[in-house]
Amino acid sequence: MENGRANMKPVTGISQVTCTAPVNIAVIKYWGKRDEQLVLPINPSLSVTLSQDQLCARTTVAASADFKRDRVWLNGQEQSVDAPRLQKCLGEIRRLARKRKHKDERAGDLLGSCVHVCSENNFPTAAGLASSAAGYACLVQSLAKLFHIDGDVSHIARQGSGSACRSMYGGFVEWTMGRLEDGADSVAKQVAPAEHWPELRVLVAVVNAGKKAVGSTEGMQTTVKTSALVKYRAEHVVPSRQEDMRQAILERDFQTFGEITMKDSNQFHATCLDTYPPIFYLNETSKHIIHLVHRYNRHHGKIKAAYTFDAGPNAVLYLLQDDVPEVLALLRHFFPPSSTNNSEREFVQGLPDANRKDL
Ligand code: DP6
Repeated sequence: MENGRANMKPVTGISQVTCTAPVNIAVIKYWGKRDEQLVLPINPSLSVTLSQDQLCARTTVAASADFKRDRVWLNGQEQSVDAPRLQKCLGEIRRLARKRKHKDERAGDLLGSCVHVCSENNFPTAAGLASSAAGYACLVQSLAKLFHIDGDVSHIARQGSGSACRSMYGGFVEWTMGRLEDGADSVAKQVAPAEHWPELRVLVAVVNAGKKAVGSTEGMQTTVKTSALVKYRAEHVVPSRQEDMRQAILERDFQTFGEITMKDSNQFHATCLDTYPPIFYLNETSKHIIHLVHRYNRHHGKIKAAYTFDAGPNAVLYLLQDDVPEVLALLRHFFPPSSTNNSEREFVQGLPDANRKDL
């Protein structure tokens, strides 16, 4: 984890900026929108932003009067610039730049120019590893720097991908629901910087690096339409959980932090099962990891590791620094890295089903 907005390091030129932005992993999950256009959530959420030297997006944006049109490349492949969320972010940045040019004339300098965007992830895209979060956070941060826009722009990143607003800050970050109709107050806020809890560690266990079957946007739409549980969760569970989680972080209380993290992941996946037709993001390996963590914690008589799963089977484990060697050894024992898939093994601890030993 790293801290604050310094998290994103600009490498500025006259009309070119490069930023990196890390992935964030929610401990209180966002799942469901009350406004699809503005990307306003049905519940607040809270996450931990990882260190940017591990899972991150790197984006270069350039503006030039010579460019004939806006263009975008993702991981070396040109993408359609007409994607609505991309258009939304570009449009919002230009709108802000127009507004600000009276205060800072540099903000208006590039308004007549087209932009080229080049973004890369150093981890599997769309495998349920928050790639869109890092990607849109990075895009919006780079564009804001290019157009000389200061201040919080998490409400713009949010419109690229909801969870992206949380990657705009380091450490422990919450995304507020907001009350305003235009969503201007549905923003990311830092609860505590990373150094507040330096012993906290994250292990990412890649169970499957493939593209997820049901994307988050589509998945949560179906959940909101069909699940009674998700409404109950948003109204009766998350508000107090968010408070308890914030307190646990402020007090560095790993027992409460871990328990809420696991319960919230389980409830999120329960809402997926309650969706009609149901959505299954966890696979057998994910479930074995869940059992392993509970057995490990039971053995120690306290929570030493906490799992959480996003919209995919890959496990993220939160734990304290002293327990990393033991938990890693345990994972390696039960899920030995595959000799046939080096890329996954290098990424974290490869966990292919075929090699799993019985627990
Ligand atoms: C399960 O932010 O990817 O990771 O707003 O539609 O782009 P969109 O969804 P996205 O959803 C992330 C869902 C989650 C939980 C979380 O990160 O809070």
